[in-house]
Amino acid sequence: MAAAISSPPSERVAVVTGGNKGIGLEVCRQLASNGVTVILTARDEARGAAAVEQLTAAAGLSDVIFHQLEVTDARSIARLTGFLKERFGKLDILVNNAAIGGVQRLPVQDLSAEKFSGMDARQRAEWMWKNCRETCDAAKAGIQTNYYGTKNVTEALLPLLQASSDGRIVNVSSDFGLLSHFINEELKQELNDVEKLTEERLDEVLAMFLNDFEAGEVEARGWPSAFAAYKVAKAAMNAYSRVLARRHPALRVNCAHPGYVKTDMTRHSGLLTPEEGASNVVKVALLPEGGPTGAFFALGQEAPFV
Ligand SMILES: NC(=O)c1ccc[n+]([C@@H]2O[C@H](COP(=O)([O-])OP(=O)(O)OC[C@H]3O[C@@H](n4cnc5c(N)ncnc54)[C@H](OP(=O)(O)O)[C@@H]3O)[C@@H](O)[C@H]2O)c1
Repeated sequence: MAAAISSPPSERVAVVTGGNKGIGLEVCRQLASNGVTVILTARDEARGAAAVEQLTAAAGLSDVIFHQLEVTDARSIARLTGFLKERFGKLDILVNNAAIGGVQRLPVQDLSAEKFSGMDARQRAEWMWKNCRETCDAAKAGIQTNYYGTKNVTEALLPLLQASSDGRIVNVSSDFGLLSHFINEELKQELNDVEKLTEERLDEVLAMFLNDFEAGEVEARGWPSAFAAYKVAKAAMNAYSRVLARRHPALRVNCAHPGYVKTDMTRHSGLLTPEEGASNVVKVALLPEGGPTGAFFALGQEAPFV
């Protein structure tokens, strides 16, 4: 293994997953604008390279580097880890942004944004719900990408984050991941009890959810309804973040809800621009040294996990 090419000690290095579009792309832009060297990652080489081009050529940001990353692929994670180890020997900021909706989208006729005018957030979310279908395959993919993708990338990059003097992880979460969406009181309590909770138990809880999903017992068992897989995956990711924060007190591990944002994920039904949503994530990534860890931030402000 080649020795790390020494970078200036003050140079901060960040990795952003799913950086080719939406909130992730804007997080890359804003971190780079703040003097951070950004590794913009994307699962698709062409989409990733185009995004880097957009930030470097069009926006004049020089310190943005592309690296391929498919968060559900162990070999892709290993390649990124090897690259970071050789090139920087450390990682200061990891933004786990990549995610999917965990539902199958139905085709819509009217693609214009005008249809949302006059609708409030609830009505817009209802429109999204009306235009999708929950399937077992989509639910499984949602758990694999949003929970296990985040976890596996994090675990691989932990040694590099520990090599930083101020390692930070920001898990891009959602108000859909709040425990208030769980009807099952026992589960809610368990996911909130970070002193007792373990990663093994989180695996069991997710396996239980997928079994109940397949058996058509999501509501009967008190899981969140509507976008169930997305909500359960984000709630589990929040719980994992808290467990991780406890396990690694030298790191800052936090969750950030960007707000309801106009991106492909929401079919552009959101209320905020990607710039506004990303700023709620970047604010957490760039908190002053020694700030909170194991916390949830909604729209840039610390808030409860429930
Ligand atoms: N938009 C909102 O209102 C909202 C609200 C709350 C939380 N969030 C969270 O914000 C984050 C960004 O969402 P967004 O709205 O910007 O969504 P988006 O526009 O759909 O972007 C999602 C990004 O994740 C990437 N991705 C998906 N699966 C991946 C995988 N297996 N490996 C690597 N990359 C993958 C996508 O890549 P491709 O282009 O290749 O598909 C894309 O770059 C997500 O964590 C989401 O849950 C969004």
